[in-house]
Formats: sequence, C-alpha cells, structure tokens
Amino acid sequence: MSRIRIATVDEVKEGQTIKFSFHREEKPQEGFVGMYQGKLFAYENTCRHIPITLDYGDNRFFDTEGKTIMCQTHGAVYEPDTGLCTRGPCAGASLYPLEVQEEDGVLWFEEGSLS
Ligand code: FES
Repeated sequence: MSRIRIATVDEVKEGQTIKFSFHREEKPQEGFVGMYQGKLFAYENTCRHIPITLDYGDNRFFDTEGKTIMCQTHGAVYEPDTGLCTRGPCAGASLYPLEVQEEDGVLWFEEGSLS
C-alpha cells in the first residue's frame, strides 16, 4: 500500500479532471479528480454499466458544457457531485467514490482505501 500524489489543488480547474493510477489488490486501476461548482470530487474510472473506463484514455469525462460526467462508450450520464447515473443504461447506479486527502495544497490517494 502506498500513497499516490495526484496533483496540487490549484491544478484541478473547474470543469476539468486529472487522472491518476493506483493498485487495488495488485490490479492496476485508474481514478480521476475533478472540480464541479467549486467542489472537488474523485471517482474510480469505471462505468457502472460495463466495468470499462468512462473515457477513451483521453481524460475526457465532462460533457461539452462541463455539467455532467459522461461515459464515452454508451453515453451514461452521471452527476459530477454525487456520482449518480441519471440517464443511460445504468441509471440509478453510482460511480465508485475515492477518498482523496488534501495536505498543504496537495491531493493524495492512499492505495487500499475505497471511499
Ligand atoms: S459502458 Fe458506460 S454506458 Fe455502457
């Protein structure tokens, strides 16, 4: 188990995301942090419809208006602040939240912590 440095808080801009890699039970995983209406969020990069990444490896999570998180494969729509899927094949399910800690302006993720 180790501590992953994600970014500084200042690097996470409104309507944008930053990805990071970590391991869970020795399997490689991806997460992403983002900013929506001034609040930070962090989720595992896994769609709730089929367990594949939400993006196509291109760090594209927000829709073009920066209002929702969208799965690039079948278009499931998630609320950025809650992770709830409001439209699409997995409506009613939620993204897996990740617990990110801020320390002296830097965001960290502890491998092994789920939420
Ligand atoms: S894999 Fe995400 S909506 Fe189908």
